[in-house]
Amino acid sequence: MLAVKKLMKIMLIVGARPNFMKAAPIIAAIEERNQKLAGVAQPSACAGAGQAKLVLVHTGQHYDQAMSDSFFADLRLPKPDVHLGVGSGSHASQTAEIMRRFEEVLMREQADAVVVVGDVNSTVACALVAAKAAFNSEGSRPLVAHVEAGLRSFDRTMPEETNRVVTDHVSDLLFVSEQSGVDNLLREGIAPLQIHFVGNTMIDSLLASQAKAERSNVLQSLGLRKSEGGDDSGNGTARYALLTLHRPSNVDNRGTFMSILEGLEELSQLCPIIFPVHPRTRARISEFQLEDSMRGIRLVSPLGYLDFLCLMKNAFLVVTDSGGIQEETTCLRVPCVTVRENTERPVTLTHGSNVMGGTSGDSIRQAVRKQIDAPKTVSCPEKWDGFAAARIVEVLITAIQTRRLATAGSSPSSVDRARGTTDGSEHLQVQ
Ligand code: UD1
Repeated sequence: MLAVKKLMKIMLIVGARPNFMKAAPIIAAIEERNQKLAGVAQPSACAGAGQAKLVLVHTGQHYDQAMSDSFFADLRLPKPDVHLGVGSGSHASQTAEIMRRFEEVLMREQADAVVVVGDVNSTVACALVAAKAAFNSEGSRPLVAHVEAGLRSFDRTMPEETNRVVTDHVSDLLFVSEQSGVDNLLREGIAPLQIHFVGNTMIDSLLASQAKAERSNVLQSLGLRKSEGGDDSGNGTARYALLTLHRPSNVDNRGTFMSILEGLEELSQLCPIIFPVHPRTRARISEFQLEDSMRGIRLVSPLGYLDFLCLMKNAFLVVTDSGGIQEETTCLRVPCVTVRENTERPVTLTHGSNVMGGTSGDSIRQAVRKQIDAPKTVSCPEKWDGFAAARIVEVLITAIQTRRLATAGSSPSSVDRARGTTDGSEHLQVQ
């Protein structure tokens, strides 16, 4: 009988703020699976069989307390096993530095799989390293799995679009959060067996954290609990809008930044706009001397995950250029205006609470009016049900086991067969 190594090793990469909530449910699902297996009585020779060891790697792309540490606390993430401490830099230098430092770690750890999430520089850097690694003379390398695969804005001026395309095309397993992702990957020639429509791990985190977010005191600390006779949204909370802006195309150009602010003037007369400011944006506001153009907009420091969730849930309207917030507002059924010309998350438009506002003063004003006058009816996108990470872990473990058996020579499957699954799970069947 074939001896299969007992512990599988899965490396999970996080680096920037939007990665943390996408990764947390995957860690929880691996732990839960391990605990279940540990509870099953096994002969002592097989103890630990089928369990997976998680190696959490933080690249250090984001490093501030507010951009990283507070998310570890809020999401109860374990301390990273490895911290690459890369920090900020130009795209090339940041990506290259992550690659250089991660390669050393991967060669040492020889993981069975490297899981990357989202579309930040850390995602593409580690996926590239893992796809080209060779642990031995036969060229064994880890499986590369991309969580949130297939999303496309079709706007190659966005650094994230390049990151998504490259990551998807070097990955073996593509875990998709909405149908458009499946369609895009198939159109780009990715094999159907590699594509797994599993749902959205960011929504797993949101659903798991909602009760804790309710207990946040951010509304009180920002003075947004209803004051006597104040404007009330109906649940004891003052009416306010929530704004986030950090995309270089919006905030690195003074003219564009100004027209977005102009588009929000009317809204700011209706209710206060709370604006947790990303470090990049904070630097531009000061560089462009935009402080005086912020009338009615209340600048606050970046918030932790639970506080931000609480603010989103109770907002009258959210205005954003973030990708993830479009999804979170859809799940929370809070009207959202996206100040961009395109979105890689079209399900938030077709099913969700999102409308595109563009970046001109006029188009933003129109979109805000539309959302105030007639907020959209929202239906929850398919598989945004809190179980995406569990589906991912099942597919991943099966793929690792299949590949181990194939490389050990006992299975008729080729190594490439391990790109698919053998458990009849949610992968796309080729007819
Ligand atoms: C990155 C991601 C973007 C994601 C965003 C969420 C890429 C290409 N972009 O953009 O997709 O939506 O994170 O925040 O990966 N800084 C700090 N402290 C930090 C991190 C950054 O002060 O902890 C400052 C630095 O001056 C840095 C700037 O913010 O130069 C921008 O950070 P960077 O990681 O380069 O890109 P983001 O704009 O955050």
